[in-house]
Amino acid sequence: MNVLVFDTEEQIGIAAGYYMCGQVLQKPDSVLGLATGSTPIKAYDHMIKLYRQGAVDFSQVTTFNLDEYCNLDIKDKNSYHSFMYENLFNNINIPDENINFLDGNAADVEQECKNYEKKIKQAGGIDIQLLGIGSNGHIAFNEPAESFQRWSHIVALKESTIKDNSRFFNSIEEVPTHALTMGIGSIMQAKRILIIALSEHKAKAVKQVIDGQVTPQCPASVLQFHPDVTLMLDKGAASLL
Ligand code: PGA
Repeated sequence: MNVLVFDTEEQIGIAAGYYMCGQVLQKPDSVLGLATGSTPIKAYDHMIKLYRQGAVDFSQVTTFNLDEYCNLDIKDKNSYHSFMYENLFNNINIPDENINFLDGNAADVEQECKNYEKKIKQAGGIDIQLLGIGSNGHIAFNEPAESFQRWSHIVALKESTIKDNSRFFNSIEEVPTHALTMGIGSIMQAKRILIIALSEHKAKAVKQVIDGQVTPQCPASVLQFHPDVTLMLDKGAASLL
């Protein structure tokens, strides 16, 4: 694994933004796997900046987001759909039809997950997957469990994740209890992976990813088996290394 430690979140945003845009410059019709949460916001800011400077063009790019809440209107400000439009898509020239999300309100969730996997395959697979990591080691909504779930699936969110995410909602009761997420296999098939982790509360999970045991109790630990992973950490997230 390529582990890079930075002094500030700002620097990580710049480095990660360049990393993602570098992929698009090398291959204009790249397939990007994208993440939500606080972690990638500065990377998206820098991607927007590079786009506005004319340094990168997203018109041929396709995106697949990692996950989406169930039973939440996509227009709700807390949907991952809204997050992505606000923090990235509204500010770059990616065509709407190239943007893909799991539909957390699909009537047939199982079929929706199968279709998503098929769409990723038809697009040629994900060239680079951007990831955050949960304080419990989750990636996307693959929560600690007895076994790894391979493909996209529905998941009941852990209490700790509901608590982590409640900061965006008016109350903890408003946080959806279920989500659709890409599976560990979907993520592991990406050709390259970029993980960003910020602050001390991610330090334990980061340590396990780098030199801990590979176990579904820390889903991100499986990334030790991926051939091309870059981790961008601030000093807090790197504090146990
Ligand atoms: P965060 O979430 O970026 O809001 O910390 C990361 C994650 O849970 O994957």
